[in-house]
Amino acid sequence: MKHSILVTGGAGYIGSHTTLALLEAGHEVIVLDNLANSSLESLRRVERICGKAATFVEGDIRDRALLDSIFARYSIDAVLHFAGLKAVGESVQQPLAYYENNVSGSVVLFQAMAAASVFNLVFSSSATVYGEPKQMPISEDCPTGTPTNPYGRSKLMIEEILRDLSLSEPRWSIAVLRYFNPVGAHSSGLIGEDPNGIPNNLLPYISQVAVGKLQKLSVYGDDYPTVDGTGVRDYIHVVDLADGHLKALAAIATEQGVHVWNLGTGQGYSVLQMVSAFEQAAGVTVPYAIVPRRGGDIAECWADPKKAAHELGWQAKHSLDDMMHDTWRWQQSNPNGFSQ
Ligand code: NAD
Ligand code: UD1
Repeated sequence: MKHSILVTGGAGYIGSHTTLALLEAGHEVIVLDNLANSSLESLRRVERICGKAATFVEGDIRDRALLDSIFARYSIDAVLHFAGLKAVGESVQQPLAYYENNVSGSVVLFQAMAAASVFNLVFSSSATVYGEPKQMPISEDCPTGTPTNPYGRSKLMIEEILRDLSLSEPRWSIAVLRYFNPVGAHSSGLIGEDPNGIPNNLLPYISQVAVGKLQKLSVYGDDYPTVDGTGVRDYIHVVDLADGHLKALAAIATEQGVHVWNLGTGQGYSVLQMVSAFEQAAGVTVPYAIVPRRGGDIAECWADPKKAAHELGWQAKHSLDDMMHDTWRWQQSNPNGFSQ
């Protein structure tokens, strides 16, 4: 069935891949994005890939009047809420910007939704809310922990706000999706991750070394209690992640309350395994040096994805090799991201 979906942050990395999946599934998509960390070019490329366009509204989720006008103009069935700031280091330097954009912005959005009687919401959370996990793999009933930075705390706060909201008004149907480590790009090579400045995350850094933009990778510590001493994470292809949003959207159409789902593969890879998988897929050498651990990093983290499999009928389909090939294709054909 065709729905009208408001996608906040839909010009960004995960939002643009999900917008594509929504359009391909026949939905009408309205994207609201202030372009703080993205470019309209991503949505032009989405249109090139699927031949359908999202309606774009440039603006901020903190702008209540704008939100009210969007809900008045379009008959929105559900909101996919990606908009927010996401750079961990920056959040330590500028905590108020993170609490204002992520937490206050979300509150304004939820107020506008309630006023418009739109109660279906999919929220982008993160495995970071588990803090230092006590058990592996991490299932949704593991207690949330203490995130080590304002970015992570902003995600946990929004989750808690959503629980209070649902208790106060049973019409809310909310999916909280806890992403593990999103990587990769669409197989067309037309859309992908376009980090601002020097990337903080592993795979964008590796691919910028491979393309010659950066000299060598710093591997943050080789003395963790892991397979080879380097940090282990659950990397998930962004196209699988986008598909998870469509499945969650279908689930909350019939289920009220707050539902938490991990979106991960259930398989962890170390930093050095990632380097060698990338080298194999791209056929290039990635020089690296071992440096001290990065503050706030945990040794290992991977998902138990069974709940999403049982309840959503969703599981990640792309292999590590797909993640590497797609990242490399995107990086090679867009060495300067969307700005060329
Ligand atoms: P992104 O920065 O590419 O996308 C976020 C988008 O939101 C950008 O287009 C940005 O311009 C927009 N935006 C930011 N503040 C806004 C505001 N106040 N009003 C309107 N638009 C605003 O990030 P992404 O990687 O696509 O992440 C999407 C969501 O998923 C974020 O909420 C992020 O915290 C969450 N998440 C991301 C990861 C990851 O590794 N990428 C992991 C876990 C969770
Ligand atoms: C980081 C954030 C997390 C956020 C997630 C997705 C921190 C502490 N955590 O998670 O809150 O939700 O990104 O955006 O920043 N690594 C290197 N060299 C690098 C980069 C990374 O060795 O240049 C290692 C890290 O130590 C880690 C692994 O690679 O072991 C993955 O790092 P990264 O991609 O930054 O993701 P996370 O740390 O899991």
